[in-house]
Amino acid sequence: MGAQKGVSGLGWLALVTVTVSLCIQAAYADEQVPFQLPEADRVGPFPELYEASISELQKGLQNGEFSSVDLVQAYLARIEEVNLKGPALRAVIETNPSALQQAAELDNERRTSGPRGLLHGIPILLKDNIATLHSEGMNTTAGSYALLHSVVPRDAHVAAKLRDAGAVLLGKASMSEWSSARGTFPSGFSARIGQGSSPYVPLGNPCGSSSGSGVATAIGLAAAALGTETDGSIVCPSSFNNLVGVKPTVGLTSRNGVIPISEHQDTVGPMARSVADAAILLSIIAGPDPRDNYTLVQPPAVPNYTKALNASALRGVRLGVPRRFFNYRNRLDEHIIAAFNSSLDTMRALGATIVDPADFVNHEELVVSTNESIVIDVDLKHGLNKYISELVHVPTGVKDLAGLIAFNEAHADLELVPPYWTSQSQFITSQNSSADQAYYDAIIANRELGGKHGIDATLHKYGLDALLLPTLVSSMPAAIAGYPIVMVPLGFLPPDTPLAPAEPTRISGPNQPFGIAFIGTAWKEFQLISYAYAYEQATHTRLKVRAFPEAVPTTQLADVVGGRFHT
Ligand SMILES: *[C@@H]1O[C@H](CO)[C@@H](O)[C@H](O)[C@H]1NC(C)=O
Ligand SMILES: *[C@@H]1O[C@H](CO)[C@@H](O)[C@H](O)[C@H]1NC(C)=O
Ligand SMILES: *[C@@H]1O[C@H](CO)[C@@H](O)[C@H](O)[C@H]1NC(C)=O
Ligand SMILES: *[C@@H]1O[C@H](CO)[C@@H](O)[C@H](O)[C@H]1NC(C)=O
Ligand SMILES: *[C@@H]1O[C@H](CO)[C@@H](O)[C@H](O)[C@H]1NC(C)=O
Ligand SMILES: *[C@@H]1O[C@H](CO)[C@@H](O)[C@H](O)[C@H]1NC(C)=O
Ligand SMILES: *[C@@H]1O[C@H](CO)[C@@H](O)[C@H](O)[C@H]1NC(C)=O
Repeated sequence: MGAQKGVSGLGWLALVTVTVSLCIQAAYADEQVPFQLPEADRVGPFPELYEASISELQKGLQNGEFSSVDLVQAYLARIEEVNLKGPALRAVIETNPSALQQAAELDNERRTSGPRGLLHGIPILLKDNIATLHSEGMNTTAGSYALLHSVVPRDAHVAAKLRDAGAVLLGKASMSEWSSARGTFPSGFSARIGQGSSPYVPLGNPCGSSSGSGVATAIGLAAAALGTETDGSIVCPSSFNNLVGVKPTVGLTSRNGVIPISEHQDTVGPMARSVADAAILLSIIAGPDPRDNYTLVQPPAVPNYTKALNASALRGVRLGVPRRFFNYRNRLDEHIIAAFNSSLDTMRALGATIVDPADFVNHEELVVSTNESIVIDVDLKHGLNKYISELVHVPTGVKDLAGLIAFNEAHADLELVPPYWTSQSQFITSQNSSADQAYYDAIIANRELGGKHGIDATLHKYGLDALLLPTLVSSMPAAIAGYPIVMVPLGFLPPDTPLAPAEPTRISGPNQPFGIAFIGTAWKEFQLISYAYAYEQATHTRLKVRAFPEAVPTTQLADVVGGRFHT
């Protein structure tokens, strides 16, 4: 895997780690914050689709400036421009053949009975491991030929929630195949669409495993996307693609109908261009689901996360910096550390108290533990076997993980593609694992390492509301604990950064984005979103650098409104 290792090795598998909870937070959850529509640039009379916010699009739809059909047409044309042509970013694995019809129905409904809410008629992409009704025409495959044409029993719970809220499910975003749990290969590759890449660095690593969700959202191929994370798979591609990513507490969003890695760590969350958009999406997809019993222990009322959008929210908040963790697995670029350091001054200016360092009290144990891989090895086999067994039909005849391994061997020309993408080592390791005592011990150990003795003990020791880390080193403790992360853009590598060699993607290059993560104890999404929003409003880092020119689609609403555009 060579130069890819730093960002696509185990650390960025959709993989790895869990949590426990203290009640350190106090005041913010009940505050009533008036929701303000963010302003967006306009192209002529219309919102500019590279950056347009959900609220701005909703306002235009509601004012009759354009229809949801227009919006779907514009996004489909934008996908067409850059997905397989031009820079061939391979961000979208397929689009929804029913999207235009659904948009037309939603436009009708708006005219007759008004909008269902902020997502009515808004096109959203789903990572290809999130099931959608087979009758609608889309595949759900985690990027693999093994599940092509498989018939899912129903929409994933989160997909159904979006549909009920009036969203248009525009298509499936590409991803690292099987959420990086097949084996070791560059992020953003799946057999069905090939190697995806970054819109910021030509042939750049998009990170994964929610790579397509990141790339597509970054350049306005949809209003936003859902990704999934086991360990880093939302926050890393959000970081590399200049986005806001929310990795919810395990159990806030249902995993039913999501092709799994680990029931102990998997979680579904929004990837968006602003904290406000992420808050809108999370408010819709969160909530209990009888088909995923982890969701039944969440606090009773799902907050309306848009009420957390308070630009003063960092006032009086205590944030800690686990400095020693900066060296976890990767050596961070000095520019990232410098940008992180200066973000601390920004947060102080916004009224926060920074405790630096505030190292994890169990730092040594955290960094040497291999409990995460023990749990994931077993969970992957159990989870995939269960997911496949619940499918209504699998045309390839694959029945379980053993069948997947055999399928990949039998179709090595499609799946185990040389020179970079031949590995299925994680599949083989998992198939050979068993739920022994070491597994049950590791489940408990992870929760304690990440949670009670890790994040919670550290918050408690320093009297903190949250921890701050560069996104690239933020995911593991929260992953094993099952705790939330909210991350926002922090900066970009300098324009004179050398282009790393393309093997086949570049590990770094000029203007490569990176993010900053707010980490809290379980169910603290509301508070973390409020802090992230305050920081975002003070900095607007995302807007400082755009994608490279060929990766910016040119189609705008003005090109389609009034039927001027025909696909
Ligand atoms: C926003 O947060 C600040 C600081 O916590 C608080 O004083 C203020 O009341 C909040 N604003 C609203 C509208 O709730
Ligand atoms: C699902 O996959 C099949 C086989 O490749 C393809 O024919 C079909 O078009 C796919 N569906 C969509 C919506 O792309
Ligand atoms: C969910 O149900 C399974 C099987 O019944 C059980 O083993 C597990 O403990 C439950 N988990 C939670 C979080 O309730
Ligand atoms: C959340 O609050 C906003 C602003 O008041 C409102 O527009 C939206 O409909 C609410 N969302 C939900 C899911 O209730
Ligand atoms: C960042 O801040 C830390 C702690 O104050 C300091 O040790 C380090 O040298 C700073 N690094 C950079 C690149 O500014
Ligand atoms: C799992 O975590 C426990 C608790 O920290 C530790 O004692 C044990 O050595 C870890 N096991 C492995 C295999 O890392
Ligand atoms: C399977 O597990 C056994 C026992 O842990 C080990 O000896 C063997 O090498 C493993 N085989 C593979 C293919 O990983």
